Order: sequence, then C-alpha cells, then structure tokens
Amino acid sequence: MKLTVIGAGAVGATTADNLVRRNIAEEIILLDIKEGVAEGKAQDMMQTAALLGFDSKIKGVTNDYLQTAGSSVAVVTSGLPRKPGMTREELIGTNANIVKSVVENLVKYSPDIIILIVSNPMDTMTYLALKSSGLPKNRIIGMGGALDSARFKYQLATKLNASPNDLNALVIGGHGDTTMIPLINHATWNSIPVTHFLDPVEQEEIVKKTMVGGATLTALIGTSAWYAPGAAAAAMVESIVLNQNRLFTASVYLEGEFGEEDINIGVPVILNKNGWERIVPIQLSDSEKELFKASTDAVRNMNNVLKESNLI
Ligand code: 2OP
Repeated sequence: MKLTVIGAGAVGATTADNLVRRNIAEEIILLDIKEGVAEGKAQDMMQTAALLGFDSKIKGVTNDYLQTAGSSVAVVTSGLPRKPGMTREELIGTNANIVKSVVENLVKYSPDIIILIVSNPMDTMTYLALKSSGLPKNRIIGMGGALDSARFKYQLATKLNASPNDLNALVIGGHGDTTMIPLINHATWNSIPVTHFLDPVEQEEIVKKTMVGGATLTALIGTSAWYAPGAAAAAMVESIVLNQNRLFTASVYLEGEFGEEDINIGVPVILNKNGWERIVPIQLSDSEKELFKASTDAVRNMNNVLKESNLI
C-alpha cells in the first residue's frame, strides 16, 4: 500500500506525520515544489521511527510525480493557506490552477487513485478535482466536514466539561465561515441529546464558535491551522486504507441527494476501500434545510468562478 501527500507545508507535513505514525502504509511519498523541503521533512519523520515504533517508510520528493506512481490514496494540501482576515474563498484564484495540475499529474501515474482534497476553498477545489480528473465521483473526497465536526466536538466538550470522545456531532454544508452548518439538534453526549444540557444561548454560542473555528486560529497563529486539519485528513485516509466504513462528513458530489445536484458539499458519508461508498441520509428540519440551501448557493457561486476562468 502506497500513499501520497502533496504539499509539505504545515498541513501536508502534519498529515504525513499522522499517517506514518499509524503504520498503515508501506510507503508514503511526500511531494512539494520547493526543492529539498519534502526530502528534509520526510527524513526528520523517518528519524522518529525508532522512537515511535513504526515501520512505514516516508520519502520526500521535489515535484517528481513519477515517484507517486501506484498510489492508492493521495491527500492534496497544495496552495496558499489563508492569512488573518482572509476568507477561504479568497484563495480560489491561486489555488485552482495549482489543484488542477496536481490532480492531473496524480491521475497520470495512479489511474485508480482516491484523492482527498484539503486545499481551499475546499468544496470548490473538490469539485474542480472531480471535473478535471475524470475519476468516478466516489474517488474524489473533500476533507472539511471531518475537521469542522472535530472542532464542533471540541466546543461541545469544552462547554459540557466532557470527553470529546463521548460526543457525536456533525457539521454539514460548505467548509466556509458562513456556509458550514453545525447540526446541534442532532448532536449527542453518549446518545443523550446535547440540547438537554445547553440552553439556546449556549447552543448558539457553540455553533458560532465552531463556524469561525479556523478563522480564530488563523488570527492567533498568523496562518491557517494544521494539527486538526492533518489529523482529520489522516483519520479519513485510515478509514479508506483499512476499509473501516467510518462515517465522516465529507464534501462529495451530489446527484439529487439532499435535493441538490452538480455540486460537491459536506454531507455524511461512509469511507472505505471504494472511497466514499454511500451518502447517509439524515432528516433535516425546515430551518436546517434552508441553511443547507444557502450553503449550496454560496458554494455554487464559487464553482461559477471556475467556469468563468475556463478551468472546468
Ligand atoms: C482550516 O479550517 C485548513 O481550512 C482549514 O483550518
């Protein structure tokens, strides 16, 4: 089993580090366009093998896609991260061209690959990856919802003084500060609805903090976060590689599900050796349906930029 991570910046390197520690692949290729960066970070990670006890090998390469040949799964993190005050959507101009060429190169050397997109604006980059790769829809997955759901669990756990591992909570919709939808009415604390413990003001506060989870970190750190994004990407890859059938929210191509079509957006899916195998239907309330509609409208506006730029 061979995996590839494209981009050896903070998110890509953290994804690779999480993957190599999991010991689920014989080989991981870490590829970056900057000479030496991926090689150096991969060697640094390999020097943790004797301390952490893994046998996976990680190899860094500079823009050499031949080395990625035969990969089962690739995680694409390339492109610019956002700076404080920026929205993820503002990155489209630069990142769209990068993601398109990365995906084309990956498919050239690994025609059966499953691609997980992390680059922002994530839903639109996932849609672009689907359109420009020619791969079946189940092999193209966007990462955002898994990350946003983990951030939602963090906010709930903090407020409830609970273990994040005892919380079940999903964020659907777009991976944007105003487009994501933390489903507080569906969230449970070991199967007890969290709404039993939180008043409406507290619920609203948790939802708002979740939605600006990434922006809050960008303001504090000065660039986009990497620990939770890397951990989310690695958990999703693990479910694919080990055929775990875990349920994550991920950005996938809709063909009528949730009343939408020709769009990639976050919905609950099962991840296994086939990529995203199926969408898990959930009953949304009228207000959740309205939020989902507004979210798809916003993502579609972004997707139109790809069409206007002749990228798809
Ligand atoms: C985030 O929300 C990287 O978009 C990612 O931190």
